[in-house]
Amino acid sequence: MRRRLDPANQALGPCTGHQIDGQKITFELAEARVELQVYRHDIVRIRVVGKDESFEDFSYAVIRGPEKTEFQWTVTDAGWVLSTNSLDLYVQAQPLRFQLKDKAGKTLLADDAAFGISRIGREWYNYKELRDDEIFIGLGEKTGHLNRRGKWYQHWNTDAFAYGEEDDPLYMSTPFYMGITQGAVYGVFVDSTYRSIFNFGASNHRFSYFQVPDGGLDQYLFASGGVSEMVQAYGWLTGTAPLPPKWSLGYQQCRYSYYPDKEVLNVARTFREKHIPCDVIYLDIHYMDQYKLFTWNNKEFPDPEAFVRALLDMNFQVVVIIDPGVKVEVGYHAYESGKEKDLFVKFPDGTYYSGDVWPGTCHFPDFTLEDTRQWWGEQFASLAKMGIKGYWNDMNEPVTWGKKLPDLIEFDFDGQGATHRKAHNVYGMQMARATAEGIKKLMPDTRAFVLSRAGYSGSQRYAASWTGDNSASDDHMLLGVRLMLNMGLAGLSFTGVDIGGFVGEANPQLFTRWMQIGAFSPLFRGHTMINSRDSEPWSYGEEAEEISRNFIRLRYRLMPYLYTAFHESSENGLPVTRSLAFDYWNDSHIFDRRWGHEYLFGPAILVAAVNSWMPIQKIYLPHGIWYNLYNGQKYAGAQVHTIDTPREVLPVFVKESAVIPMQMPGEFVGDEKSDTLDLHLFAGYTTYQGYLYNDDGNTYAFENGGYEKRSLKHDGASKVLHIGASEGQWTSPAKEIRLFFHGIETAEVRINGVKQAVRYEKVRFIEPISNFDPFFQGGEHPWEHAHVAVVTIGYHSAAIELSY
Ligand code: GLC
Repeated sequence: MRRRLDPANQALGPCTGHQIDGQKITFELAEARVELQVYRHDIVRIRVVGKDESFEDFSYAVIRGPEKTEFQWTVTDAGWVLSTNSLDLYVQAQPLRFQLKDKAGKTLLADDAAFGISRIGREWYNYKELRDDEIFIGLGEKTGHLNRRGKWYQHWNTDAFAYGEEDDPLYMSTPFYMGITQGAVYGVFVDSTYRSIFNFGASNHRFSYFQVPDGGLDQYLFASGGVSEMVQAYGWLTGTAPLPPKWSLGYQQCRYSYYPDKEVLNVARTFREKHIPCDVIYLDIHYMDQYKLFTWNNKEFPDPEAFVRALLDMNFQVVVIIDPGVKVEVGYHAYESGKEKDLFVKFPDGTYYSGDVWPGTCHFPDFTLEDTRQWWGEQFASLAKMGIKGYWNDMNEPVTWGKKLPDLIEFDFDGQGATHRKAHNVYGMQMARATAEGIKKLMPDTRAFVLSRAGYSGSQRYAASWTGDNSASDDHMLLGVRLMLNMGLAGLSFTGVDIGGFVGEANPQLFTRWMQIGAFSPLFRGHTMINSRDSEPWSYGEEAEEISRNFIRLRYRLMPYLYTAFHESSENGLPVTRSLAFDYWNDSHIFDRRWGHEYLFGPAILVAAVNSWMPIQKIYLPHGIWYNLYNGQKYAGAQVHTIDTPREVLPVFVKESAVIPMQMPGEFVGDEKSDTLDLHLFAGYTTYQGYLYNDDGNTYAFENGGYEKRSLKHDGASKVLHIGASEGQWTSPAKEIRLFFHGIETAEVRINGVKQAVRYEKVRFIEPISNFDPFFQGGEHPWEHAHVAVVTIGYHSAAIELSY
């Protein structure tokens, strides 16, 4: 007889009973303890630990306790059913298995009948039935395509310099995914900071599964609604991104590294001279003395205060890099004070762990210790005093040369105690947290910008993220779009990539295409590696410069729309760049890899991120009617279109009935012609419901009513636009509203019943690129709306009803 079961390959064992305590149901099993919790009408939590272990009530990701929820617990032949208004969870008693159904009775997710939840040694597994039609999406910063079926992934934050198109893992870990089956969607968040593995049918056709190497299994199951509702529910659980300072939505220029001070000032000045809008300039590691944190290289930056002041006076914000490694050097203040307070991570014998990174041998602050976070925050005092409001946390996977920190290193884990195996994936997140919280204490009234490379679920609460050290190629540019969209599916809203590519060198076509895509990315930052070619918008020749200027200006023109999208994100967790899966998950075409680089930028703008080298490309538009942003050309949805993709434009479309608020751009945020708000109204048969949000862009006054919020409702079929009365106490500087009617034949326009004067104008969102545009004949331009009806009305805070 063949020997069958390795004794370590263990099932849960027979279920001998259960107890209900409020919204918790605990099952007694021979080999484990299982707890089911009603978390919200649409979320249930299932936890499993070994029979002699206890549940840990601690999470860096989850910020909410269970919400009081009505539920029924019904006995069935096989076990029980837990029902809320939004889901039914069937629980089979022998052996214990879970099956999640929606209210229509569709099975969303079911444990594999034979294996369900089980373990090998200390590692827990949950095997789920794999359906023929099942599509898997999410997991955040993971390479590959939108549909993850047939692939597997692990979560272990990694310094993935020049990563390949299939490499895994990268820098961040967000173990939240969604499944789509039988026309319904479910979500699963596995709250484990260990090196977890997710398998969506790689190497087997029987089940999908995930595994956590230690610490028990803690999963949240989401049901009810589509992808958008799932991501919002995940945002409820793990938090949303705070409203950023408005300047951080402007163009940001980085390189590894600009120095000395004169060079930085030169770059800043060149932006202004060339009238290319820009808000931010970065200082990468060379601004420091031998890469020591919280120091300045006095040779290259002899007078940091005056230097920072000069940039601020030019209306540039400064972002400085701050890595985690503190150089081991007697007399160096950060080292001495960290040692004195005993804040660095240690080996189990009580000695400090040392590893090598930019400054040489370093100790590493234990950011999972409250005292460390407090101390860390205080180190920023002199930078904050100079007026620096942007902080860039890098290398915080954490990485040291050799890329293998020993597992036995110990962390406080906020009093829980943990080895590196458990703390690794939250290190970057807790560093970003320490930075964000520290700056908030130093500048309580000013919004700061924090950027972090590593992160874990919930990182969106502390920092924006970028996709690390990408490469200068078309494939990488498109991979970056997929990464950004996948990050959005995991609640990370403020994301971007190194425009132009970090490693390698872009050609002018690639650079300009990348700038165009960047203009439609939440984080709009150009960056490049040491010893590479210059990579500012003017470094690739005159044509590239003109195209880049056009798209940076377009970005600034869209600022009212974009800032509102960021506001929405802070409220409900919807990311700014949304995979088509958000709104069109039940359209199977969107999972076709050819359309995987199309996305919604905010609620109403569809961007097709196309490669830089084909002048004509195919684009799929989902159902509805779409308008080419640049010239208003109308396209029917649910179809593939062949579209001109010359280098001077990126294909961008506006959803029917949309209302897009814009403004005339300036050279930096705050420089715009803010006395006029432009509302671009597009024809359609649907109802568009959105809003316009604005505030001072810099302070927290909005938390106490210092904002303006106006609903925008356009009923395309009955041709009525409602602009709601202004909520909040902030007064817009706008004096007038210009309404532009796109695709709308306007015989008559009435505002609150009164007939208005209509004039006609040509509208251009991008300028002709003078000497290079093959279409430009000095007159009609192909990227121009010919004669659009325009009505100008006074800006006032009362509600406005417009009919046309
Ligand atoms: C890392 C970062 C990169 C930075 C460099 C030097 O490679 O990912 O953005 O420029 O370190 O600090």
